[in-house]
Amino acid sequence: MKSILPTLLIIMIIMSCTKHKKTQGQADVTSEIASNDTFKKWWKEGVLYQIYPQSFNDTDGDGFGDFRGVIEKLDYLERLGITMVWMNPFFESPLVDNGYDVSNYKAIHPRYGTMDDFQEMMDGMQARGIKFVLDVVVNHSSNEHEWFKQACSSRDNKYYNYYHWWPAEKGKPPHRHSLFDPEGGWDYVESNNSYYLHTFAEEQPDLNWENPKVRQEVYDIMKFWAKKGVNGFRMDAFQFVSKDTTFPQFPKGHEKDFAKWYGMGPHLHDYLKEMYNEVIEPYNVFAVAEGAGSTFQDAHDLVDADRNELQTAYHFDYVGLSRTPEGYTLSEFKEVFTKWDREFAEEGWLAIFLSNHDNSRLVNRFGNPSPEFRRVSTQMLNTFLLSMRGTPYTYYGDELGMTNIDMPSIEEYVDVSAIGEYGMAKARGEDMEAFMKTLNYNSRENARTPMQWDDSQNAGFTTGIPWKRVNDNYTSINVAAQEKDPNSVLNHFKKMVKLRKDNEVLVYGAYTLLDKDNEEVYSFTRTLDDQKVLVLLNFTDHESEVTLPLIENTGEILINNYEDLVTKANTVNLKPYQAVIISMNH
Ligand code: GLC
Repeated sequence: MKSILPTLLIIMIIMSCTKHKKTQGQADVTSEIASNDTFKKWWKEGVLYQIYPQSFNDTDGDGFGDFRGVIEKLDYLERLGITMVWMNPFFESPLVDNGYDVSNYKAIHPRYGTMDDFQEMMDGMQARGIKFVLDVVVNHSSNEHEWFKQACSSRDNKYYNYYHWWPAEKGKPPHRHSLFDPEGGWDYVESNNSYYLHTFAEEQPDLNWENPKVRQEVYDIMKFWAKKGVNGFRMDAFQFVSKDTTFPQFPKGHEKDFAKWYGMGPHLHDYLKEMYNEVIEPYNVFAVAEGAGSTFQDAHDLVDADRNELQTAYHFDYVGLSRTPEGYTLSEFKEVFTKWDREFAEEGWLAIFLSNHDNSRLVNRFGNPSPEFRRVSTQMLNTFLLSMRGTPYTYYGDELGMTNIDMPSIEEYVDVSAIGEYGMAKARGEDMEAFMKTLNYNSRENARTPMQWDDSQNAGFTTGIPWKRVNDNYTSINVAAQEKDPNSVLNHFKKMVKLRKDNEVLVYGAYTLLDKDNEEVYSFTRTLDDQKVLVLLNFTDHESEVTLPLIENTGEILINNYEDLVTKANTVNLKPYQAVIISMNH
């Protein structure tokens, strides 16, 4: 069973990546590139923190987070040291997919506050050196968007061509897979006697990017927010906007490779270049795409600087590694990160994440959530995330080691994706007990529980009834407790952020994997000019020894999630989930 955004995500794991470019003398080349000022960008050097607004902090007692709640926590954000915030959608919406179904792109859903609140929140961030990244959801709108309502009224309506339609007199449309709807990607509208296309839920009709008016509407929306001062855009589901509008019948089983069949359509690059000229360049903003195509070449074509399209993207190649409770192997994990780094050593820039609102919690998926190892294993994962090349994206709560919740019964789920998948699994005749076990482990609802601020009622998130159950472990895992504890996940996260910001080698330095076949310890170096650091990460719950010739030449320990480090000649004995970064002597 796969999960949430399931097909899409897993597919990207199985995708076969073609090699883009051979990298020789990697360290030297990278040093040269990184010392080139046009290569350096704030969005490469930044540390991004993702806020799921409805779960962050509620100030009006309605059980949903709001902008004033974020304003209340601006000093917290500043203390984290992060320099960018991406906030999930907060626009007017019927909230079928928690805001990824927008009914008015220029208006704010009242539960989050007003436009003035938004401005105050963003200004407050920017005054603290934090840039703001807006989530732009324009592969589809909500079915309650005025454009769609009008489009449904008649084929003569000027908004009809804002969407993709299949006139019913041509018979039934060729099957399209929908990521959320077990019934498929077309739905019939009686009033215009046509089927409309929806890649996600039926309440999320796909916008027709072939229509230049639609594209102008999108740029107009982006300009609206750019004028308010947003610094960047996260383009939701962007690789799907261009379609082969003849809608050919894809072969049976094609949906397993969803990104290949439905992504990177024929005009995508034309649209991106147009968007660059209309918005990105004139407003001096950047854009990051969700998804990076199916091959390395696709990813380069999206983000390389000379393309003048997007500036960065995040790929899903490792998301599936731990999507079942059985987990993943360290060599697979290393391989994914190493090959992507190699392919982007000279050109292009990617974002790196290990968790977000579409996946379950970081520590459950890649670490060890048991009380004994939760703290050290989250610290180890945060050390990894913040010491790799690529802009690190941290999801709210992962700076504390927030964990999954237990939701064994489908009745408790509210997520359109979980419910859709359940329907699809049932239709396929799957073993529903096994399905629920996996859903409970990897559902994205795990990562949407309220932020755990303190040990007061509802973790200090709300004085009302929280929209989603607070994780029972909030009395021990919360900001207030961790701020006081020098060894907490939170304080380690802050140290790690500072270390990255203070050491350009962690941003731009060349990455070299060491000891590739070691299934317990991930070792690599980062090198920039005359600075070199060694990163050692024990991914297991027991001690593990690593022997590397360069250990004899190590200098200062820059960060360590244990008090000490046991080293003898060229061998280090790492404690369970121990994570260290050591600078190298010359
Ligand atoms: C993206 C979002 C996800 C949403 C989907 C449909 O994948 O990250 O949360 O459900 O698009 O907009």
